[in-house]
Parts: sequence; C-alpha cells; structure tokens
Amino acid sequence: MELIKDGKRLDGRGFNELRDIKIEVGVLNRAIGSAYVEWGRNKVMAAVYGPREMHPKFLRDPTKAVLRCIYNMAPFSVEDRKRPGPDRRSVEISKISSEALSHVVMLERYPNSAIDVYVEILQADAGTRCVGLTAASVALADAGIPMKDMVASCASGKVNGEIVLDLMKEEDNYGDCDLPLAVIPRRKEVVLLQMDGKLTQDEFKKAYEVAIDGSMQVYEIQKNALLKSVNEVKIGE
Ligand code: CDP
Repeated sequence: MELIKDGKRLDGRGFNELRDIKIEVGVLNRAIGSAYVEWGRNKVMAAVYGPREMHPKFLRDPTKAVLRCIYNMAPFSVEDRKRPGPDRRSVEISKISSEALSHVVMLERYPNSAIDVYVEILQADAGTRCVGLTAASVALADAGIPMKDMVASCASGKVNGEIVLDLMKEEDNYGDCDLPLAVIPRRKEVVLLQMDGKLTQDEFKKAYEVAIDGSMQVYEIQKNALLKSVNEVKIGE
C-alpha cells in the first residue's frame, strides 16, 4: 500500500512529525489523579487510585508499594468490536506499562501499598501503549505521588522503506516495522522498547533516535499540560 507520497504521509505529516496531542489533567473527580489524552485519533483516559492498602494481602511488598497498571480496550474502541475483558495483548501491555512506570514512582515510600493506574482506551488508532503510558504519567503527577520524573513515550517505525515517527493505524497495519519506546527524559533512560517487524542495524539506530526525539517532544507537552492545570487551580482559588 502506498503510505508515502511526495515525501508526505497519508495525513500530510513529515517523517519526523508527531500527530496532534492534547492533554487534559484532572478530569475525574473520584480518582486521586487523572488525565485524558487525544493523540491523533486515539482517545485515552488514565485514572490513579492509591497509594492504598494492598489487597489481596499476599501481593504486599513490605519494602515498597506495588504499582499495577491495568490497560483496557473498550469494546467500541476498535473497528471490529473488541471482546470485553483481558486478553493476551492487554495483559502484556499492562505488564510492560507497570514496569515502565515503576522506574519513576518512588515506591519505597509506601510499603505494603498498592498504586493502581487504570488506562482505558476509548478509541484506538495505533500507538495506544505509548498514549496510555503518557496519560498514566500525567495522572500520577496529578495525583501528587512522588516521582523522580515522568515517563514519556512515542513509537517510530518503518513505512515504505522510510523511518518515520509516531505511526498511525494505516502505517501500523501496512508498514514494515513498529518500534514503541518509553524513556525517563531527564536521564534519557529507556524503560520500554519493543519491536514488531524487521529493521537493519542502521535502520534500528535511526528509528531508536527518532523515537527518543519524539518522546522528548511528548515530554514537553506533558509538562505544559501539568503547568496549565496547576495555574488554573491557583486562579480558581
Ligand atoms: O496500540 P498499539 O500500537 O500500542 O498496539 P498494537 O498491538 O500494535 O495495535 C495497533 C493498533 O491495532 C491498535 O492501536 C488498534 O488501533 C488496533 N487493534 C485493533 O483494531 N483490535 C485489537 N483487538 C487490538 C488492536
């Protein structure tokens, strides 16, 4: 399928361009922290509960909190109805997201506790694990849970032989490779890296750099959304 024409992608983007990203902070009253992210045609809600006593008890860690990220796709989020409930894919994404976020949250401050982060995919258009992690980080910051930094995330990939940033659905479906990545921006430490497809070593190096650059741009958008929400609270007081 022709995904690149005259140096432009199907939606008119250049190779290193992100889709439009909009982040709203603190959108849910009952959660301790929350964020809603629109990223291209993706729509994702993240909600944080805790730190709270961990149940069941046998999952407690007396040295630190356990962060559980629960990634869920709504039945109406994809073209073919998604059967409700967990499947192999959502269990995998929950696991890698929990691990990525555990690198930044200061878990040792809350022994025996659970921090639950719910990521609800309301509309999916490729890259939802990156969108979910982005939303989850902002929701954790909104909850005021101590963190060393946020996690910023973005995928790159190969489409019609070109390395491009932030694949949308058509590019994900008909492209050659997808490389989701998440990073702790201040340390430039990678906390998630997956690859679906094939790349040569040189292509990998380029795609890796492109995904890091993209994640750094996402980081700025995350910070701006948080700053805006803090300023709005001050004005409202
Ligand atoms: O969303 P992400 O790219 O992180 O994960 P993926 O497994 O590579 O899925 C790519 C896209 O396929 C998703 O964003 C959805 O748009 C779509 N998908 C779907 O249509 N039905 C599913 N059961 C799972 C994914």
